[in-house]
Amino acid sequence: KDIPVICIDGPTASGKGTLADEVAQALGYVVLDSGMLYRASGLAAQRAGADLDDGQAVAAIAARLDLHFSRGRVLLGDDDITDALRLETTGLLASKVAAHSEVRHALHQLQLDYRRLPGLVADGRDMGTAIFPDAPLKVFLTASAATRAERRYKQLISKGISASIAGLRQDLEARDLQDKSRKASPLAPAADARELDNSALSIEESKDLVLDWWAQAG
Ligand code: C5P
Repeated sequence: KDIPVICIDGPTASGKGTLADEVAQALGYVVLDSGMLYRASGLAAQRAGADLDDGQAVAAIAARLDLHFSRGRVLLGDDDITDALRLETTGLLASKVAAHSEVRHALHQLQLDYRRLPGLVADGRDMGTAIFPDAPLKVFLTASAATRAERRYKQLISKGISASIAGLRQDLEARDLQDKSRKASPLAPAADARELDNSALSIEESKDLVLDWWAQAG
């Protein structure tokens, strides 16, 4: 509990991962990408042929996730899932399994274990509301749907993957709706979160703002 945590929650493609990495690097902190745990759980459940509507069955798989990290790759058992993790189909799969309270419960302790010295930056949907409610700084990061779709579009195009902005926007709005409307830890700002709309900000500007808030909170 004495170990500092900065929570960065918010909707899909709002830039949480990038901001969390930047802030953690500036402070020398550990990063928790909690979405990755839900994505890996979804992939593990799918590969095991589990019924994705069965919360208990998926939770049993999430509780025994055999994840390894090596040289920038993520392994699930012997499978390299690094590329599969980033697919939008995997995001949707994650959102589906993340709606089960049993699955959220199965991943709870694993997330708490990331709280190590000198400190943690945790990115997700419920870091400030459910996992680290005592965090001294909670940021709720947003950007307009148009901005988020455009950023995702540029990302894909730069990797040589074709996409349509309208289609991407539809996908991310559908996933956000699913995350906001579920009963178990829905996507919502914590009562004591500071909202940051980064639609018109550079990564550098967002990072500096969070570091200023952190200096005030500390
Ligand atoms: O952030 P990312 O896109 O990787 O998250 C994938 C999905 O995992 C989200 O749409 C959400 O349903 C779920 N998730 C969650 N709680 C978190 C992080 C992610 O429910 N803390």
